[in-house]
Amino acid sequence: MSGTVRAVGGPPIALVGDGTPVRCLDGTDRPYLSLDAAASTAALPAVWARVEAFIPSYSSVHRGAGYKSRLSTDAYEDARAAVLDFAGRSGRDDVAIICRNTTEALNHLAYRLNLGRDDVVVTTVVEHHANLLPWARVASCRYVECGPEGTFEVADVDAALDAQPRPALLALTGASNVTGWLPPVDAIVESAHRRGVPVVVDAAQLAPHRPLPRAPEFLAFSGHKLYAPFGAGALVGPSHAFTEGDPFLAGGGAVDLVDLGEVLWTEPPEREEAGSPNVVGAVALHAALRSMCEVGWGPIIEHDRRLARRLREGLRAIPGVHLLGPQDPGHDTLPLAAFTVEGVPHALVAARLAAEEGIGVRHGCFCAHPYLARLLGLTGAQMAAYRDELRRGDRRRVPGAVRASCGINTTEADVDRLLAALARIATGAPPPVAYHQDPRTGDFFPDPEAGHWSTQRATGAGACSPG
Ligand SMILES: Cc1ncc(COP(=O)(O)O)c(C=O)c1O
Repeated sequence: MSGTVRAVGGPPIALVGDGTPVRCLDGTDRPYLSLDAAASTAALPAVWARVEAFIPSYSSVHRGAGYKSRLSTDAYEDARAAVLDFAGRSGRDDVAIICRNTTEALNHLAYRLNLGRDDVVVTTVVEHHANLLPWARVASCRYVECGPEGTFEVADVDAALDAQPRPALLALTGASNVTGWLPPVDAIVESAHRRGVPVVVDAAQLAPHRPLPRAPEFLAFSGHKLYAPFGAGALVGPSHAFTEGDPFLAGGGAVDLVDLGEVLWTEPPEREEAGSPNVVGAVALHAALRSMCEVGWGPIIEHDRRLARRLREGLRAIPGVHLLGPQDPGHDTLPLAAFTVEGVPHALVAARLAAEEGIGVRHGCFCAHPYLARLLGLTGAQMAAYRDELRRGDRRRVPGAVRASCGINTTEADVDRLLAALARIATGAPPPVAYHQDPRTGDFFPDPEAGHWSTQRATGAGACSPG
């Protein structure tokens, strides 16, 4: 295990692998700086330690009578209980279904709610594709629009809830992965409930940064954004929503009795978890949730707010850098920011930060194309032109932005390092070597002949920004 390990206290808390040296274009090794926590985080030391300690006990879950099977089953069920506890749902008739991630959780729910084309799901243009596409596939969607800063009011949601036909569900993000905006979830959920509309909150971004709301019927989140990168996430919801009908996955573990002509499904949550579960992922998720609780929301939120303000104020102060989303630096957002740099394609900004500075950020449309189109003010004609280019396999002009996002390990010095690097790029400092763009992916790479950047590193990878 590498990286500086600190006892769990107030953030920043170093994560496993922090400080890994990266050879940059000038031949200098710089400590790798991940400002991509909104995509995925490294493991908390306590998570890695728990996984290492658990591995010798690893065995089949719910499938064996042996000693290790019992240990593994207990660890798995403890993790399930911890998810319910973290979501503030212990003692309620709720179940936690362990799945791969938020995307799977929302697809699972979309299948399970048994919606049809006549059913309306109210959702918003702010959503990640994971909270748009599953609903559009099974029902008719009614979208809450946003303003130029990428936000909307409770009244905008109310209008969509009040339109006819009456909606069957409200699917809402707890926090935007693009602007870090925190919609007024509690007020919106209350409004939906007053109208008898159940709510699912996509808590992928919210869960690492704020307590989960208790009122929505359903919640989904991912362990890999929460310092538990071992492939487990959760769908939480009332048990009765999963007691009737076919489960999302059919197979072993989800049944009480199978005859060739008939199947007797078992009770939830097992009914919803056919196949061998990801026990290591669940154990890691449990350890991460425990660590978050030990640190406490107070210090986490204070840390986030400090970083959010420094990042957003810093970006706004750099000439040529345009922040997307809420402009007031005092606006309470997650510690992340998406921005464009005048005259420099988003993919080139990201490539230069990586190759010249050892800084990892995300660029593109962040799996939220409708939101980005609005934030960037793209017209229908522009979108159609990009679509045509994409159909021809040309990704050179794909619109987008750059996103920097902070986690529990990010320091103010890290933010300053990004800001200094961006200031150099935005004020026109020429790159030390030529960069070439791959038309198939849209990504830029330094000239492979350039001293310290090997051809092997520069090619053969997948695109950095597919949406
Ligand atoms: C708001 C939001 N929802 C859903 C997802 C999908 O999460 P996952 O990739 O873990 O399924 C993401 C991932 O970035 C996200 O930011």
